[in-house]
Amino acid sequence: MIRTRFTEMFGVDHPIVQGGMMWVGRAELVAATANSGALGFLTGLTQPTPEDLVKEIARTRDLTDKPFGVNLTILPSITPPPYAEYRQAIIESGIKIVETAGSNPIDHLPHFKDAGVKVIHKCTAVRHAVKAERLGVDAVSIDGFECAGHPGEDDIPGLILIPAATQQLTIPVIASGGIADSRGLVAALALGADGVNMGTRFMCTVESPVAQSVKEQIVANTERDTKLIFRTLHNTARVAANAISAEVVDIEARGGAQFSDIQHLVAGARGRKVFEDGDLDAGIWSAGQSQGLINDIPTVSDMIDRMVSEAEHIITSRLSGFVTAVSAA
Ligand SMILES: Cc1cc2nc3c(=O)[nH]c(=O)nc-3n(C[C@H](O)[C@H](O)[C@H](O)COP(=O)(O)O)c2cc1C
Repeated sequence: MIRTRFTEMFGVDHPIVQGGMMWVGRAELVAATANSGALGFLTGLTQPTPEDLVKEIARTRDLTDKPFGVNLTILPSITPPPYAEYRQAIIESGIKIVETAGSNPIDHLPHFKDAGVKVIHKCTAVRHAVKAERLGVDAVSIDGFECAGHPGEDDIPGLILIPAATQQLTIPVIASGGIADSRGLVAALALGADGVNMGTRFMCTVESPVAQSVKEQIVANTERDTKLIFRTLHNTARVAANAISAEVVDIEARGGAQFSDIQHLVAGARGRKVFEDGDLDAGIWSAGQSQGLINDIPTVSDMIDRMVSEAEHIITSRLSGFVTAVSAA
């Protein structure tokens, strides 16, 4: 067992988090994660309404009696979802752990705190993590440039970002982005983190509710097979390389692109089609550079057991073997 401030604070066996993932963070994956001793998050906005989220929480509880949480991603939007209603659904369902992401959680934090909900805020910059700590979140997840989804605009990889964060924060830090195995877990702990958060690795498991072809493509892909889109719009997203992400990058490279020029290509409904129908070029889909470290499609339980036991081995055998006592002259 690897115990950290994170495992103590959230009452789980392993310092491993399955982060919120649009269309992916559903009951089966979250329950499998919880039953394996890690912390899984349902993705609130994957459910079309707050009422559907209440049902998905109940469905997850039918599959596990271990702790799990809900991700609330707050992104700028022309027609924003009813965030306050989703928040209320989370609180009234008795959920005690929430992952916020996307922007400053200030509007939601007092409500969660009043209800005794612990909040992990996920962000991509040390200054945002420091601000979140000041606001009173319980822990932060910090996504390095390697990550799937939104890495921010600073382009700082985890090897710098995580120690830069842990040296400034007092609350537990969860390292995120580019982690897919025991080596990443041990490295994150060495950098001062209390745990790791993974997306792409969890998406490529038996219980992940995406088409088999998506999982096989993640296994086939290398660390070079991602594209950064929306760079010119200052809302960068790291997605899998495919015909659609290449087209978006091309349009942006021509200069002066507005969101309306690419909207038809990046629509959420098209990305959902990739996951549901397995048509890999139907739209854009998030995936990280950690694809280069993913070589199989295990059950969540096998993946987590392997990650923890190998990490224990690296710490107790490989690393400790490097340390030698200086013999007295
Ligand atoms: C398919 C997919 C969808 C994602 N959707 C969300 C989301 O809706 N909200 C969020 O906070 N993070 C989202 N993420 C980011 C993950 O929670 C996590 O921070 C990220 O994947 C970590 O990087 P990794 O993929 O290298 O492990 C998504 C990731 C993937 C792979």
